[in-house]
Amino acid sequence: MDPFNTMLSKRLESIKKEGLYRRTLPFAHRESAYISFQGKKYLNLSSNDYLGLASNKKLLLDFYKQLEKTNCLEKFSPGAGASRLMTGNSKLYQDLEDQLASLYKRERCLIFNSGYHINIGILPSLASKKDLIVADKLCHASLIDGMRLSRADVLRYRHNDYDHLEEILRKKRTAYEQVFIVTESIFSMDGDTADLRKIVALKKEYAGTLLVDEAHAVGVTGEKGLGLSEEHKVVSDIDLFVGTFGKAYGSQGGFTVCSVPVAEYLINTSRSLIFTTGLPPVTLHWLSFVLKQIKSMHDARKKVRVLAQKLRDSLREEGLQTDGSTHIIPVLIGDSQKTFNLAQALQKRGYWVTAVRPPTVPAGTARLRLSISAAMQWQELADLPGHIVDCLGENI
Ligand SMILES: Cc1ncc(COP(=O)(O)O)c(C=O)c1O
Repeated sequence: MDPFNTMLSKRLESIKKEGLYRRTLPFAHRESAYISFQGKKYLNLSSNDYLGLASNKKLLLDFYKQLEKTNCLEKFSPGAGASRLMTGNSKLYQDLEDQLASLYKRERCLIFNSGYHINIGILPSLASKKDLIVADKLCHASLIDGMRLSRADVLRYRHNDYDHLEEILRKKRTAYEQVFIVTESIFSMDGDTADLRKIVALKKEYAGTLLVDEAHAVGVTGEKGLGLSEEHKVVSDIDLFVGTFGKAYGSQGGFTVCSVPVAEYLINTSRSLIFTTGLPPVTLHWLSFVLKQIKSMHDARKKVRVLAQKLRDSLREEGLQTDGSTHIIPVLIGDSQKTFNLAQALQKRGYWVTAVRPPTVPAGTARLRLSISAAMQWQELADLPGHIVDCLGENI
């Protein structure tokens, strides 16, 4: 092997020794809440398809049936052919953005290629050298990358600690032109929630601009599935609302609902919007198709809530340590290798559970991350806490 590859192999060995080695695996067909891998079927507790839309066969058939009925091949095209600012934009984009802006009762919506694209595109575009970004300590990697790419100063407040947030704002606000407050609404690895009303009050008091990443809440939370901000009745107070289509929408893409100047400024300056090929028409068409249904999927949202609550209660009854209050349920283990071994042992028992390890979560807090989908039934989940305890008892 040449020196470069030898060096990489050595680094990979030390990643393996720390129990942090990652792989991409070829999963086969999805059917309801199940996946198959190497011919074996598993209950999928690692998916973000919270409403079970991506795996809903009837929905997929209804969607593709349109191909027979109408002459709409163009809407099923797999490629945009160019960036949105060249010729990759289409009426499908405009229709979807109009629908979302009106649903959120905001002036504009702007769609990016993914939640990751939007989070690395928004802050570098809007926050300058003279500005400060104050972000929750547990914000997602994509938000952290966006902060790193921006030229603003960045400070982090302790997770969900609003006294700490206020202390930073009180001490630092006057030294900067703009201050951006950044949080997730449902935290992706902890399943707990931000107190959006408190944050909105602080952003008003300190004349800040508020970015809320609702990636794990859109579709699942709020009466119409708008997100936690709908539940907390603060949608109109969020300056930069970030949603993704990669999770409950069962597809791909990200969006912000915002003011006209923000949207136009992003179109002019946001590099992850400008310098990339637009989303495929078939994706946009699917998103318009499911958006119409998501608004009224009250039963599915309720089912997800009930299943999550039952599973959390049952994990606690078994003496396992969990946290949060949503459809993302962490089971805290601590040691990375032990968490990895536990996930593997559960996989042998038919549950596809992933170990979440540093750097995704802070050192010493490796965990299983269980995510609930409306495609699941309680009978499929009921035995899981007992299996976790058994596997831990096997001294893995
Ligand atoms: C909080 C949060 N924001 C953004 C993203 C990125 O979204 P996407 O998967 O659409 O790129 C994720 C993905 O896991 C996330 O958890």
